[in-house]
Amino acid sequence: MPRQPFVSSRLQGFGTTIFAEMSQLAAKTNAVNLGQGFPDSDGPAAIREIAAAAVLDGPNQYPPIGGHPDLQLAIAEHQSRFWGITLDPSTQVVATTGATEAIAASLIGLCELGDDVIVFDPTYDSYAAGIAMAGARPRPVVLHPTSDQTFGFDEAELRAAFTPRTRAILLNTPHNPTGKVFTTEELSLIAELCIENDVIAISDEVYEHLVFDGRHIPIATLPGMFERTITISSVGKSFSFTGWKIGWATGPAPLITAVRTAKQFLTFATGAPFQPATAAALRLSDDYFSDFVSDMSDRRTIVGEGLVAAGFDVYWPSGTYFVTADVTSAGYRDGIEFCLALPERAGVVAVPSQVFYQDQANGTSFVRLCFAKQPAVLHDAMHRLAQAFG
Ligand SMILES: Cc1ncc(COP(=O)(O)O)c(C=O)c1O
Repeated sequence: MPRQPFVSSRLQGFGTTIFAEMSQLAAKTNAVNLGQGFPDSDGPAAIREIAAAAVLDGPNQYPPIGGHPDLQLAIAEHQSRFWGITLDPSTQVVATTGATEAIAASLIGLCELGDDVIVFDPTYDSYAAGIAMAGARPRPVVLHPTSDQTFGFDEAELRAAFTPRTRAILLNTPHNPTGKVFTTEELSLIAELCIENDVIAISDEVYEHLVFDGRHIPIATLPGMFERTITISSVGKSFSFTGWKIGWATGPAPLITAVRTAKQFLTFATGAPFQPATAAALRLSDDYFSDFVSDMSDRRTIVGEGLVAAGFDVYWPSGTYFVTADVTSAGYRDGIEFCLALPERAGVVAVPSQVFYQDQANGTSFVRLCFAKQPAVLHDAMHRLAQAFG
């Protein structure tokens, strides 16, 4: 009998999630699935045509490790056009297999065994696993619900999280699952603490083009931060191509070298025929980006107002395509209990936010719904909720 368990101690506890169970429930009950965090329609046809042509005509062989030079150039142009960040495409940009690999490669490339990595809790689910694979430890700082129904952190808790063991802070703005967009003041405090404590910022900005209130501020643009920040994004969210898995990390050459070194032995190179299409997507006109955000903003309104009409307390997101509702307003105490009952009761699927928390007690009553779905689908879901709860 081989020695058990097979899963290494670093990865134990990451195997099972409630998502599979809920997808099964969704299929069984024919429910409208607002649990899945991806759009139900594909990105621009003109961009898909470029990918299709590349599959037929190439490139189809290993691209260079940093990405095709024209993709590196397009990423650098994008960072300059939207955020005023100037990059050398060949040394300060690396293409990755989605933002997920950029995050994992940053952690593996930078952390010593036993280092601490600060994360804001709740976190996107790959963070804790990426930190574990790097042999580091997560140091959560909780985003508490505030009286104006948004989420914020306590300054003293953040300060206390920075210790001599802290190697990096893994930041996500706009933030999944809360929809929080970090403000200049909040980012300035984080920046000040990074500089004071010689900590690297790994900034996951995959929702950079989905900001409804306020504006997106890359932490790399704050004074003294470029030299200690890895900025990460991908083609998935901004262009509705989540399955292409083309991402990137940008920053100063020594940090990008650390990411490349890890990435080289994880995947070496990434989706050759999707690279020219991703470069073209990054160069789309301003209209594309403004239409995208205004379209998602309309969908946010459908779901936010629908949830309010059905009697839920709603945490309106300032960014991303997720909205948080508090199920205590519907007579439930626990988001998991609510989400397991919801397909039968209302014909809708949502995700319990507590699965995103290191300490689930901090998010017991919250559920997340994704509004990157067709307006008709969203109206249908809201109608079902109104009937079941309104
Ligand atoms: C915050 C956040 N980071 C990263 C990712 C993954 O991005 P990619 O598909 O480019 O790996 C997601 C996807 O849901 C996300 O929500």
